[in-house]
Amino acid sequence: MCGIFGYVGDRRNAGTLVVEGLKNLEYRGYDSWGVACKDGGALHVRKDIGRIGNVDSSEFDHDCGIAIAHTRWATHGGVTQINAHPHLSCDGTIAVIHNGIVENYEKIRSDLKKKGHVFLSETDTEVIPHLIEEEYRRTKDFAAAVRSACLRFEGRYAILALHTESNTLVAARTGSPLIVGVEHSSTPNPSSGGGGETSPSSRGGRSRRMEVNGYFIASDIPAFLEHTNTVQYLDDGEMVVTDGKGILFSDIQTGRERPKREVEITWSVEQAQKGDFEHYMLKEIMDQKESIARAVNQSEEQILKVAKAIREAKGTFLVGCGTAGKACMAAEYFFSVIAEKHVNFAPASEFKLYHHFLKSESLLIVVSQSGETADVLEAMRVAKAKGSTVLAIVNVEGSTIAREADSILLINAGPERAVASTKALTGQLAVLLLIAYALADNLREGRMLLLETCAKINDMLNPRYVERLRDFAEHIKNEEDLYIIGKSWNYPMALESAIKIQEVSYVHAEGFAGGELKHGPIALIEEGTPCIALIGNDEVTQDMLSNAMELKARGASIIGVSPERYGVFDEWIKVPNAGAAQAIVNIIPIQVLAYFLAVKRGKDPDMPRNLAKSVTVK
Ligand code: AGP
Ligand code: GLU
Repeated sequence: MCGIFGYVGDRRNAGTLVVEGLKNLEYRGYDSWGVACKDGGALHVRKDIGRIGNVDSSEFDHDCGIAIAHTRWATHGGVTQINAHPHLSCDGTIAVIHNGIVENYEKIRSDLKKKGHVFLSETDTEVIPHLIEEEYRRTKDFAAAVRSACLRFEGRYAILALHTESNTLVAARTGSPLIVGVEHSSTPNPSSGGGGETSPSSRGGRSRRMEVNGYFIASDIPAFLEHTNTVQYLDDGEMVVTDGKGILFSDIQTGRERPKREVEITWSVEQAQKGDFEHYMLKEIMDQKESIARAVNQSEEQILKVAKAIREAKGTFLVGCGTAGKACMAAEYFFSVIAEKHVNFAPASEFKLYHHFLKSESLLIVVSQSGETADVLEAMRVAKAKGSTVLAIVNVEGSTIAREADSILLINAGPERAVASTKALTGQLAVLLLIAYALADNLREGRMLLLETCAKINDMLNPRYVERLRDFAEHIKNEEDLYIIGKSWNYPMALESAIKIQEVSYVHAEGFAGGELKHGPIALIEEGTPCIALIGNDEVTQDMLSNAMELKARGASIIGVSPERYGVFDEWIKVPNAGAAQAIVNIIPIQVLAYFLAVKRGKDPDMPRNLAKSVTVK
């Protein structure tokens, strides 16, 4: 749950480059940061607590062609300068940054201590450079030393290592993400030798058929997107060694070389930047004017294939975490109401307990924006162990989940960088709704409904509408509790509303099924307690109005999000009527409200406390 970024190549400003690139990964973790760059035989290391976003990258303007940088989301050891990465070997020649957890670090540390190694931090990570140092004494080959060290680690990790005596960057991954960016040169590039060690250039072969002048290795694409759109995917259990001219992928276990292709990705730099918006969250909310239509624009054939797979499966499960999990829950209603089909949702972190219900004919549909969520990956592995088929609905193409699934549907939302998921959710809902319509043999009607809804959302998100929500946020910004109710597909949206408000504004918010309040939670309602009711024009409208009445009778102030104004409302947030797509429409004003609540309360909505965008630990 951190950001890793490294560079090796012809550029001489590697230090500045990695700091700038890392700023684009800050959404992944932001409690502390650190950089190491190699200037000749010297290693410059700097680390500190706080945000990399506030660091002046020109301070790292050493003459160097290799550098690594890290933003941390602490798992082992507090947020201190000493615990920040990189961590170094005893002799200070090896620097390592790490994402994940070395689960057996205590054993490794005590073994290394017996051999005289001295540890400075409380992290699990620090065992990595020391173990590499130990292995290097034996092998005299940096890449081989990293590989031997990796063979001892248990747990999920992605590491990036450099050595003052080597001109290579070495990376390895098991569980946590890493991706390689390739910078091609426009002029012919003579290959360089790599001395006595395992050098990708001196090995010749496949990777030199195109002229390259640098390689980037990062946890996610935005780190290097401004330099290149060409990537190579590092799969789980693989390592890579590069000297900036050539690159060598291999299997960590066997040491065997792994062939790789270069892939062009379609994301643009503009998509990954916030432009004139003050925060990514608001930009991404406004992106929904177009992003939902991109999700709807799926290949008809693909959607029909998925519908067929659901029809033929002996049990279909929907799995996701957080917001993506709420999309899955909404889909349970889509499948039931539109296609009369029973599917089961489970939060990914709970799914392994369901393995008794899985068969080789079962279908698991996983939903994830990042495609890297550890709980989802674990659910997939549980299903695969039973021989079940896995379909992934993801935003990030080439992510681990996308690569490990049997088939994928992309929601095409473009990069989502704010920790709070907004446009990914509506893209997920759109794709799931299409599948439900396809299951009901009515794909065309579903597509029409969604395209009409996109046009309505485009009209709804006008400046006056957004300003009104900003004013309303001002009005309720000092409230300590907020409740949200919904029924049918608006029930998961009530849960999602609570997540959105909690995570960015830190207001205590809770979502409930409208009918559930009278079974307990209604005891929380006092005079003036704000309650948001998410309502559509459908078979449950009257039930929802009754539930809102029950709250009002106990003093609640009712904020209705609905196409119609009803007498029970104290405030009305108007939304277009979207029929079965109402969940997509109703959640959008709540996203805007959550954003302004955060801003009005002086919080940074893009980087909420304690959270990280990709949750790559269990
Ligand atoms: C969303 O606002 C959250 N920050 C979080 O719940 C997120 O949806 C969850 O961690 C799942 O992430 P994924 O979609 O990348 O798998
Ligand atoms: N486990 C390591 C630490 O606590 C790495 C955490 C991360 O992924 O940022 O420092």
